[in-house]
Amino acid sequence: MERHGAHAVGDNMTISDHDSLDPRLRREAMIATFRQLHKAAPSYGARAPGRVDLMGSHTDYNEGCVMTLPIDRDTWIVGAPRDDHEVHVTSLNLGATTSFDPSRPDREPSAGWGRYLHGVAAVLTEAGHPIRGCNTVVHGTVPLGSGLSSSASLEAAAATLFEQLGGFTLDPVEKAKLTQRAENEWVGVHCGILDQYSVILGEQGHALMLDCRSLTHTHAAVPAGLRIVICNTCAPRALSGSEYGERRSQCEEAAAFFARRSPGVRALRDVTVGMFRQHVSGLPPELAKRSRFIIEESERVRALAEAFARDDRAAIRDLASASFAGARDLFEISVPAMESMFEAMRIAPGCIGCRQAGAGFGGCMIAVVDDGLVEAFCRAAAAAYLADTGIVPEIYPIRAAAGAGALRLS
Ligand code: GLA
Repeated sequence: MERHGAHAVGDNMTISDHDSLDPRLRREAMIATFRQLHKAAPSYGARAPGRVDLMGSHTDYNEGCVMTLPIDRDTWIVGAPRDDHEVHVTSLNLGATTSFDPSRPDREPSAGWGRYLHGVAAVLTEAGHPIRGCNTVVHGTVPLGSGLSSSASLEAAAATLFEQLGGFTLDPVEKAKLTQRAENEWVGVHCGILDQYSVILGEQGHALMLDCRSLTHTHAAVPAGLRIVICNTCAPRALSGSEYGERRSQCEEAAAFFARRSPGVRALRDVTVGMFRQHVSGLPPELAKRSRFIIEESERVRALAEAFARDDRAAIRDLASASFAGARDLFEISVPAMESMFEAMRIAPGCIGCRQAGAGFGGCMIAVVDDGLVEAFCRAAAAAYLADTGIVPEIYPIRAAAGAGALRLS
């Protein structure tokens, strides 16, 4: 009988950062580890990307719109059925193994990181989908906990593997909602739908204009000649669940305030600039700042789509800068490392516009960069940030990747 819970696996069961970006080496390392651990080859494989938001910070749980981009940093998972109900997971990033029994009714999270998969297995079971016991090996190139949705990527990859093993197919929007529920109830982060929707419904080569109320999207084109560059501050992230949850409650409180004055309001999405101006004096100052940010940020989502369509670089710069200023001064989700990175990106060659990404409080930021100057941008932004903070950042261009799907095993 194997012991439940987390334990470390051999030192050789990790992949170097360099090898992890070569798909062939990555696939070989995962399959070799699986064979070594389970004395057989994996029979299924699944992958899901990370995501970055190009505009629309914290608009998702306000039922607004977000321009989001699934990225070519992703999570891969390979697996094969077991004869019992247990799910065993080995992480090549952590060099550790954990296991759980998804049919167990209790809500005790399995050790640490295992709860992402345990949560997905549990919500799928509750929704009536058969979860098969399995051995799995997982590896991700989405930096962990940095605002690029490493958790949603893992959850979506796991859900996709469970579909393959269990012989069922989830409707993609339903799959996004179920994995969001796993994150809400099992990981304890009361996130919106942005991350899970992006990493499941993403389409190769496209940014998505996601409507978080109707749960539909259209394509948004990043102009040819521009690249999106991730700038990871690599500063210890101060994102505590409590800050995120607090912003969310403040938005809900502000929405309730406007709803009492205007019956059509269900969420801050429904509050127009005119309505805001008319009633703002009755709002406590902190709620006024939070709601002003969401209302203006929602406008910027629409405006950025138009600016991209016109390839209007001056507008892209202004919108991105205004988004960061609002995040810093009104929504108050910036930290000194982000301010330093903003400045480093802003003055680097080729920068068209730059802003925060994800929930804020550290982690990654993004820049829209002239394609011909990407290398010069990366070098200059990294040097300026290092000189200011003493921290070596990770700066790299990304491309829009497809949403969760099967992974080729050969
Ligand atoms: C996190 C959450 C998302 C969203 C963003 C901010 O990534 O998981 O639901 O709220 O922050 O836009």
